[in-house]
Amino acid sequence: MRWSPDHYLKYADHRLRPALDLLARIPLDQAEQVVDLGCGPGTMVEALLQAFPTAELTGIDNSEEMLARAQENFANQATWQNADVALWTPKTPPDLIFSNAALHWLDDHEALFSRLFGFVTSGGVLAVQMPNQFDQPSHVAMREVAGVGPWAEALKPFLRPAAVAKPEDYYAWLKPQAKSIDLWKTEYVHELKGDDPALDWISSTALNPLLEALGENHREDFRTALAQKLKKAYPKHQNGTTLFPFKRLFMVAVKA
Ligand SMILES: C[S@@+](CC[C@H](N)C(=O)[O-])C[C@H]1O[C@@H](n2cnc3c(N)ncnc32)[C@H](O)[C@@H]1O
Repeated sequence: MRWSPDHYLKYADHRLRPALDLLARIPLDQAEQVVDLGCGPGTMVEALLQAFPTAELTGIDNSEEMLARAQENFANQATWQNADVALWTPKTPPDLIFSNAALHWLDDHEALFSRLFGFVTSGGVLAVQMPNQFDQPSHVAMREVAGVGPWAEALKPFLRPAAVAKPEDYYAWLKPQAKSIDLWKTEYVHELKGDDPALDWISSTALNPLLEALGENHREDFRTALAQKLKKAYPKHQNGTTLFPFKRLFMVAVKA
């Protein structure tokens, strides 16, 4: 899928907060090798280097657009590498694997999380945050609109099952290699401005693959149908703002 760094960064302040909340819970004083998986436009490079000033930071992503933005803004602060996280293997074992809002794009979390945690040094950390919106109105509406209408057949292959599992599953998958595991869920209530902000928010992320698959013919009709549902689910307040609740799952696992 093609990412638009500009559109994604439109909500940068809202999207940064969970990444900082995740970073704040990492119980490491020092880390020499730090990897940011699904690093996007380099969102966390400065915060990670501030927390771990002596670290060698590597950002991994498989979007050329995102990596180009990271390279443009933070060329010297990190090594930026184009790789698919599902196939990636570190050259040097990382003390910290950090991943904000990225691993929900990958399937088979049991194998993925065990494998990633396996790369981490003893005493090192796997720290992950993922959106957990599958059963929330924004994503239910997206699937409902995708499932009816002239685009239904074409969109079927793009409707993924829930990628994010239950906290107890991650606990079970990580525990055999872990000294400790900190798991928590949060619901942020974002105050957004403008028309159809929920639609705009998901258009640069979860909805993007569907919009790409729709093509010019149906894209506008699809957006109109979804906008109607989202307006009901997330009504605009008299003052012009819209509250957009958004669920996220966090975990910080320390390797035995
Ligand atoms: C929502 S963005 C998050 C970016 C950044 N971590 C942040 O906090 O702003 C998700 C990122 O994951 C990357 N991504 C998704 N699937 C990937 C995969 N299989 N391998 C590498 N990167 C992937 C996307 O290209 C995108 O840059």
